[in-house]
Amino acid sequence: MSPFRVTRIMPEDATDAALRADVLAGLTGTPRALPPKWFYDARGSDLFERITALPEYYPTRAEREILAVRAGEIAAVSGARSLVELGSGSSEKTRYLLDALSGLSAYVPVDVSESALRQAGRAITAERPGLDVHALIADFTADLELPETPGPRLVAFLGGTVGNLLPEERSAFLTSVRVALAPGDTLLLGTDLVKDERVLVRAYDDAAGVTAAFNRNVLSVINRELAADFDLEAFEHVARWNAEREWIEMRLRARTAQTVKIKELDLAVDFAAGEELRTEVSAKFREERVRAELVAAGLEPVRWWTDEAHRFALSLARHP
Ligand code: SAH
Ligand code: AVI
Repeated sequence: MSPFRVTRIMPEDATDAALRADVLAGLTGTPRALPPKWFYDARGSDLFERITALPEYYPTRAEREILAVRAGEIAAVSGARSLVELGSGSSEKTRYLLDALSGLSAYVPVDVSESALRQAGRAITAERPGLDVHALIADFTADLELPETPGPRLVAFLGGTVGNLLPEERSAFLTSVRVALAPGDTLLLGTDLVKDERVLVRAYDDAAGVTAAFNRNVLSVINRELAADFDLEAFEHVARWNAEREWIEMRLRARTAQTVKIKELDLAVDFAAGEELRTEVSAKFREERVRAELVAAGLEPVRWWTDEAHRFALSLARHP
């Protein structure tokens, strides 16, 4: 069996410094906001996996439907010998690509969640003994230096996670992907699509409260890592459609006026009753916008597929 390697690109003290900087800026700035990457400690990654199985959360099932039908075509068009997956999480849907890519020799999952990478990497190595699996613990918005693996490369960014980046972050990110690729390499991008507001809000405010627990988990991460005293039950989960920006916003709303102490930052933060902290945006797309953003990043769109109900799309773009 090939060895399964895990490389940490961001040293732990850099992660710690990044969390401190994000929490300080996010809780003292206006409006209050935190980047969504801090949801994903081991518990956050588990909660996300539970979300993907919820009846209200359609994106995972819709994307899986597209992959099940199109994996052969993706393999044929990309001709990939290496698959790099950004924000790979459980790598569950990736199995369709791994099965279809007959000439594949390397799989490089990239994620901030070490627990998700280790679990997925162990399972894939056991299933596919000939595949070189090299997991990277890295922030895909900060450093996109990929290991030397045989070309052509296919970079997969599934789940609609690109929608969790703000527009400026997204354009910088897509450009960094193009810079990391060589001519002929391809990007497979999953994007959730604009649809009925009620369907969208339900997907982010499920009846079982799993998304609410996922949302509040960012407060547990701050409590543990920065010795803070957030009372999770003192914050209400809010999911709201922003029609102008065409994104879902997840927020945490203070139920009462309160002061939160963050010892490691030597900071006390006052929340007024009803004050909100934005924890995530999840942008929803139309075909024209995805095409325009790919082209602006210097990539050439070559395929666009949706599920039968047109809920979710996968695009394939090439480095020209
Ligand atoms: N691709 C999987 C998982 C999506 S959940 C799917 O489609 O189901 C989003 C994943 O991206 C999580 O595993 C999270 O840890 C990871 N992630 C979020 N922000 C990240 C960042 N800035 N850098 C690297 N990984 C990130
Ligand atoms: C990972 N990402 C694409 C998910 C989404 O739908 O934006 C994260 C999520 N947030 C709440 N539910 C799921």
